[in-house]
Amino acid sequence: MVAKTIEWLDGKLRILDQSKLPREQVFADLDNYHDVVLAIKEMKVRGAPAIGVAAAYGIALGAGGIKTAKKDDFLAQLNQVMQAFAASRPTAVNLFQAINRMKKAAKGDGVAEIRKSLINEAKRIHQEEIASTEKLSRLGAELIKDGFTVLTHCNAGPLATAGYGTALGVIRAAKEQGKKLSVFATETRPLLQGARLTTWELMQENIPVTLITDSMAGYFMKQGEIDCVIVGADRIAASGHTANKIGTYSLAVLANAHGIPFYVAAPTTTIDLSLTSGYQIPIEERSPEEVTHIQGVPIAPAGVRAANPAFDVTPPSYVTAIITEKGIIRPPYTEGLKNVGSRFL
Ligand code: MRU
Repeated sequence: MVAKTIEWLDGKLRILDQSKLPREQVFADLDNYHDVVLAIKEMKVRGAPAIGVAAAYGIALGAGGIKTAKKDDFLAQLNQVMQAFAASRPTAVNLFQAINRMKKAAKGDGVAEIRKSLINEAKRIHQEEIASTEKLSRLGAELIKDGFTVLTHCNAGPLATAGYGTALGVIRAAKEQGKKLSVFATETRPLLQGARLTTWELMQENIPVTLITDSMAGYFMKQGEIDCVIVGADRIAASGHTANKIGTYSLAVLANAHGIPFYVAAPTTTIDLSLTSGYQIPIEERSPEEVTHIQGVPIAPAGVRAANPAFDVTPPSYVTAIITEKGIIRPPYTEGLKNVGSRFL
């Protein structure tokens, strides 16, 4: 089992710095909310469910750092802490679900009681993500047949969820059921979550993995080497459109062209019923430097223009099924998602 991604330890938040993996396994103990916001922005903590869990603990940390004993002043300052988290990354809806729950949990007779209630709520959010990712993984494993080769994109394992994993969770659960499988992991440019994190997690689980560049996926599909594609999600609209790491849409189109099933695995905290179409999902634009450089080393001429949308949206027509902890949903998605998702924003 891989190292703990996020841990609440003696009133501090311990995170495994994912930006340094796999070269170094470095933990950071964060004792103030500013550092947690920064860790999310700089993707030291990343992956939709893990961002939500980190933000919940970060809000509890922020509450601990507010100096006033007056409840009204305290709540006003707590609101600013929550706004800082809301501005950290825009696409993963788990972040906004977590903030919303923390807002509701900010109740009690006095400041001390509210602080306690916030720590307890953050722990509950974390426990629920652990339980739901494990449950969806076990349900999804039934889609993976013995001998399958599965292609996955980005990283949707324990690191990304602070739990069991979503896409990688399904693969792990299938292996635990005794099925023989192998995985193709796309490197996932620009930040290489597939090359750095997915391969690292799978190798620790002794699951055979082949690393490929993003542009090789079509070749291997055409060769008949891929039995299915499984990816995670950062936000799923009521229509069944799913936002996930940039490059997911291209894989879905390719899978469709080759008649390969394309599955999305996500806890119901990733479903956002307030959006009727996936094209309303805010897509994060990150620094062009992430494209012109690899781990700080320039790979393009200085001054070249570069674009860097961090996510794309896959239409429901390309998705074979959505795997959640409340069941496997098949098209048409509108009805099935309505039964398991929430409308909280
Ligand atoms: O930018 P990232 O690394 O946070 O993006 C992560 C992804 O796109 C994952 O596939 C998604 O969050 C699912 S995590 C279980």
